[in-house]
Amino acid sequence: MSWQTPPSGTTLTLSPVSGLRGQVRIPGDKSISHRALMLGSLAEGETTIRGLLLGEDPCSTAACFRAMGVEISELNSELVRIQGVGLGQLQEPANVLDAGNSGTTMRLMLGILAGHAGRFFVVTGDNSLRSRPMRRVVDPLRQMGAEIWGRDGGNLAPLAVQGRSLKGIHYSSPVASAQVKSCLLLAGLLAEGTTQVTEPALSRDHSERMLRAFGAEIQVDPDKKTVAVVGGSRLRGQAVTVPGDISSAAFWLVAASILPESELLLENVGLNPTRIGVLQVLEEMGADIQIENQREIAGEPLGDLRVRSAPLRGCTLAGERIPTLIDEIPVLAVAAAFADGVTVIRDAAELRVKESDRLAAIAQELGRMGAQVREQPDGLEIQGGIPLQGAEVDSHQDHRIAMSLMVAALGAQGSTTLIGADCARVSYPDFIPTLQRLTSKAVG
Ligand code: S3P
Repeated sequence: MSWQTPPSGTTLTLSPVSGLRGQVRIPGDKSISHRALMLGSLAEGETTIRGLLLGEDPCSTAACFRAMGVEISELNSELVRIQGVGLGQLQEPANVLDAGNSGTTMRLMLGILAGHAGRFFVVTGDNSLRSRPMRRVVDPLRQMGAEIWGRDGGNLAPLAVQGRSLKGIHYSSPVASAQVKSCLLLAGLLAEGTTQVTEPALSRDHSERMLRAFGAEIQVDPDKKTVAVVGGSRLRGQAVTVPGDISSAAFWLVAASILPESELLLENVGLNPTRIGVLQVLEEMGADIQIENQREIAGEPLGDLRVRSAPLRGCTLAGERIPTLIDEIPVLAVAAAFADGVTVIRDAAELRVKESDRLAAIAQELGRMGAQVREQPDGLEIQGGIPLQGAEVDSHQDHRIAMSLMVAALGAQGSTTLIGADCARVSYPDFIPTLQRLTSKAVG
């Protein structure tokens, strides 16, 4: 395995390996890290966070809340302390709030800011985030009485928010999005009456779990895919332990499955039922994954995953399970390229409005490596079993595309050059060092 990292640190050259062996401690869940920082800021009293993800995205969230007067200790994965200001008590920031690359920061924060009556906020982000649709949260927030302006009728950041008194609504979301649901639940904390959200398929439920743990009055009806929050509930600071991110574990699950001499133990993986679609699909494809040491921390199930190489076969991915593996589709597309037969992915048009257009990006880049990937408006068709060839590929400045392509490169023939590899730090700052550690022991 050879590495060429020019001074910019952005381009990596990767050589194939026959297997990965060892242990990987999976870093904190990104979704839960954002929510712990936000609820800790809004609660009364101290919140402690153990296992926080130190990726760029949660750092953006912490910086925004610090700018609104919240005391948050230095970020590290051991222990972070937050002195919460209490609901509705965020200060008007002296400058624009920068959500960086993070859709979760921007969308959830808009829900929080909208009800801060009398205060004015401007929220922006990087090139990618400023092109992502915000009307999905702005429209229902406006129905609650929020005053929000932005380009394209309030769809594109920078967005300006003039805080107002809000009223609870019953909202039926056209998209299964935890960001939309969570934004409205957070807005509902400061709204008069009850705020209820119904979604077309169940999205991740970390907000519901954590809001309840912080003392909010939350009603959940999973059969009706509906959740409600009662306005005016007070939040009390909590001790939060963040489980490892299954979306980060997914890269190792696929890498170990497709490389013939692999066995990895992935420690500390969150196994929330709304997030484990990737395990179910890989199992259906023939992967050899065992869950060990199952336990629960801070209201979230977790375990260690042992994964060994196994021949994979194609499968169909569609319908209600898409939200349970939405962020894993790029790396599942890599698994599909190494599987026997055809894999069909449908109902995944949401991938077009992530950090990049992930359907186009993965089809284009795997195509450069010789994979047969046909792009559909809402998915992909992948003819597996065609050996991939090393090539020059591009991350499209999207962390999950970058890591998926690194996994593909390990199983390709010949070396691959990945442009823009360092954006992996958005959700997994240790990914490249961990890959270096595992491949330095591997046989080429
Ligand atoms: C997230 C929800 C998902 C996911 C994103 C994180 C969250 O987005 O893709 O990476 O933390 O709520 P949507 O809910 O908008 O699909």
